[in-house]
Amino acid sequence: MVQSTGPKKIKSAVFISGTGSNLRSLIQFSKKNNSPISIDLIISDNPKAKGLKFGKIFKISKKVFNYDHKIIAEKKIISELKNKNIKLICLAGFMKILSKDFIKSFKGKILNIHPSLLPKYKGLDTHQRAMSNREKYSGCTVHLVNSRLDSGKIILQKKVKISKSETVKSLAKKVLIQEHKLYPKAIRKVFSL
Ligand code: GAR
Repeated sequence: MVQSTGPKKIKSAVFISGTGSNLRSLIQFSKKNNSPISIDLIISDNPKAKGLKFGKIFKISKKVFNYDHKIIAEKKIISELKNKNIKLICLAGFMKILSKDFIKSFKGKILNIHPSLLPKYKGLDTHQRAMSNREKYSGCTVHLVNSRLDSGKIILQKKVKISKSETVKSLAKKVLIQEHKLYPKAIRKVFSL
């Protein structure tokens, strides 16, 4: 009997620089039968990124690129992405800024998750800044990447309440839990549009 393999999944790459907890949640999501994506490549600028271990655990190819020479690194990344027929890039805690040319060559196909309610708190130290400003809420955003930092079209956001006893650490943890749910949801949304 010939088994149906179902509709083909969109080949995706996840870019990380650190722990990779979003990477793990995206891999788990991608393994669901009805997920629109598969994860075929993990890319990092940091050879010490803890998240690289998920490549081994889930048998996904992983590649580290030296960002001391950004233009060369990006050229190599693009050829790797083309080789593997990658059609979607998910930035998940990737702490380098992609060049305009790179973004152009994958226009509309790069997503990012950011730990704030954009357009508030673009850039780094989002939780610290939200708390210093005595915000009542923070959260996370999945957005399309364009050439301006953390400024592309917003796909989904999730609000998180900042409690009276909150610390930067506890807020980061609370937001991260929501990130793990939001990113898969946003990917589903992108492919249902
Ligand atoms: C996440 O909170 C992500 O939103 C943030 O880094 C963390 C990565 O965690 N990204 C940025 O700040 C990008 N500017 P993870 O490695 O456990 O997924």
